[in-house]
Amino acid sequence: MSYADVYGRWKSDPESFWMEAAQGIDWDQAPSKALFDDKAPIYEWFSDGMVNTCWNAVDRHVEAGRGEQTAIIYDSPVTHTKQEITYFELRNRVAYLAGALRAKGVEKGDRVIIYMPMVPQALEAMLACARLGAIHSVVFGGFAAHELAVRIDDAKPKCIIAASCGIEPGRTVHYKPLLDGAIDQATHKPDFCVIYQREQEVAQLVEGRDYNWHGFQYGVEPADCVPVEGNHPAYILYTSGTTGQPKGVVRHTGGHLVALNWTMKNLYNVEQGDVFWAASDVGWVVGHSYICYGPLIHGNTTIVFEGKPVGTPDAGTFWRVISEHKVKSFFTAPTAFRAVKREDPTGEFVKKYDLSNLQAVYLAGERADPDTIVWAQDQLKVPVIDHWWQTETGWGIAANPLGIEELPVKLGSPSVPMPGYDVQILDEAGHPVPAGELGAIAIKLPLPPGTLPTLWNAEPRFRKSYLEHFPGYYETGDAGMVDEDGYLYIMARTDDVINVAGHRLSTGGMEEVLASHPEVAECAVIGVADSLKGQLPLGFLCLNAGVNRPHDEIVKECVKLVRDQIGPVAAFKLAVVVDRLPKTRSGKILRGTMVKIADGQEFKMPATIDDPAILDEIAEALKTLGYPQAA
Ligand code: COA
Ligand code: AMP
Repeated sequence: MSYADVYGRWKSDPESFWMEAAQGIDWDQAPSKALFDDKAPIYEWFSDGMVNTCWNAVDRHVEAGRGEQTAIIYDSPVTHTKQEITYFELRNRVAYLAGALRAKGVEKGDRVIIYMPMVPQALEAMLACARLGAIHSVVFGGFAAHELAVRIDDAKPKCIIAASCGIEPGRTVHYKPLLDGAIDQATHKPDFCVIYQREQEVAQLVEGRDYNWHGFQYGVEPADCVPVEGNHPAYILYTSGTTGQPKGVVRHTGGHLVALNWTMKNLYNVEQGDVFWAASDVGWVVGHSYICYGPLIHGNTTIVFEGKPVGTPDAGTFWRVISEHKVKSFFTAPTAFRAVKREDPTGEFVKKYDLSNLQAVYLAGERADPDTIVWAQDQLKVPVIDHWWQTETGWGIAANPLGIEELPVKLGSPSVPMPGYDVQILDEAGHPVPAGELGAIAIKLPLPPGTLPTLWNAEPRFRKSYLEHFPGYYETGDAGMVDEDGYLYIMARTDDVINVAGHRLSTGGMEEVLASHPEVAECAVIGVADSLKGQLPLGFLCLNAGVNRPHDEIVKECVKLVRDQIGPVAAFKLAVVVDRLPKTRSGKILRGTMVKIADGQEFKMPATIDDPAILDEIAEALKTLGYPQAA
């Protein structure tokens, strides 16, 4: 069947399309139907089925006689460690961990925060929660204590599972002091914490609150899988919105299982037993969907890679892992390839490895620039597929579905909508615009299985952020267009979210932190173009009257403040003091115009600008930081 046939089949009868896909999942009780629309525009999928995620990701493969297959390959150049875990071993490890959590009172519906680096224990913790029907919320290790505290107060976890440390090139990330700091800051206190002590650092445990990962499993009864309703939340994953308060994206169990399982063959073209590698982090949605759940649900071998594309130890690491572990499908962010390309433009490292098992490369997380795609195609000699998705959707909205049909690649486009997604480009008034015209990208409701049904404890915010602007649609927050052949082009965000090295960050959140500096009267943060990371945040600071300390001291304090409050992942290193910010007559800061000046792009003087002279002051200030940069 062609892509057009499959998409058409979904469109003409979505109910039977998804019920058929649901057959790929083991249900304790099969759902009576796919879509539950009685609370529209809040939609749910497979709500009356009973199912367990861990069973589908682990136990069923053992039961089917494939227990000896490797489930997880841990490859950690930063600790010089390699390890393989079979499905059989994984089942035992997860069942005991779940048993220990249950013995301490964790039950179906309880939240568990997981704050861990890229070690297999992170996946085991996620799966142990799934086994019990507990709702996990994984927090990325590059976030600071404050961000962790905000998530603790929102998710109200019964338990937090953390590691003693993470390893970044050149430094150890001390997780435990960050965890202790976050618990101190948070109003909600977890009943207990479980700490996985790594060889590289042994953390101090708090008597009566903290348990050692191994010690607390001693002598417990392993736990069986607890069937949950199809609409039971599998996890909450916080993502950046327009303020410092992150959005808790909820994922329901049934749709998550069905959709991810469907994508493994249809989108990524892998068969059971094939090795699938997503070089991301479990703290991001890519890590949830394609390091942990997708490959395991489908019975693939997944790779947990603890390292960077360059420097661990060199720009050949990706190729070494692909070759050594016979990776068939590889998923990464364009930034990672830009980093490799910068160090090895002619692909000298590529030549050293046998990449004959590699079938295709998938890119997502940020715009894939054509130069990077062409470079990767030339080096690897396999299809390089850009695909577009969001934390909210959990899987690809648009892609080139190699398992169905390899469509022609158009550089700069993540190709075509996947079944389940009716993507429309709308004007401000919500009317569809003709092919080739720019507009807001929206998806006709309902969204497919596996996407967010709501935000955790924040349904009004869910409606306001995604459903109200264009009634009947989900607003993606991205702007772009569709061409005559139905290919999508993602051009920009319509909100203040920026994308730094494939990491989604809120400039509004950074502004909130900067504004808390006692000498900052007003501020603005914009995303400027960066040849490696795609975008970088850059701050403008207006100081209170009478402040006469050296500006570089204040800038340094502000940079430190963002690192301490949000975390190193914000990559906030550029800031400059200005007298005034350019605004409209109604007082709105003209961030878009500032971005254009910083990027050296042509811009139209905004008709509503209050004082055009301020733009010259902004340009002067940017020059001191070296912007616009030479092409
Ligand atoms: N824990 C703690 N700190 C972390 C971290 C983690 N898990 N991940 C990143 N950081 C830190 C980095 O050490 C760095 O700190 P520094 O300011 O002290 O140098 C900071 O956060 C910024 O990190 P990053 O933006 O990733 O830059 P980098 O210079 O360390 O690495 C790349 C650059 C391109 C190699 C890296 O960004 C990369 O591999 N990107 C791919 C991103 C990706 O896979 N995204 C997932 C979406 S699919
Ligand atoms: P996240 O929720 O972190 O996955 O970030 C989602 C956002 O990243 C999207 O809304 C886009 O702005 C951007 N994005 C992700 N994938 C792509 C892509 N293939 N092309 C362009 N932008 C992308």
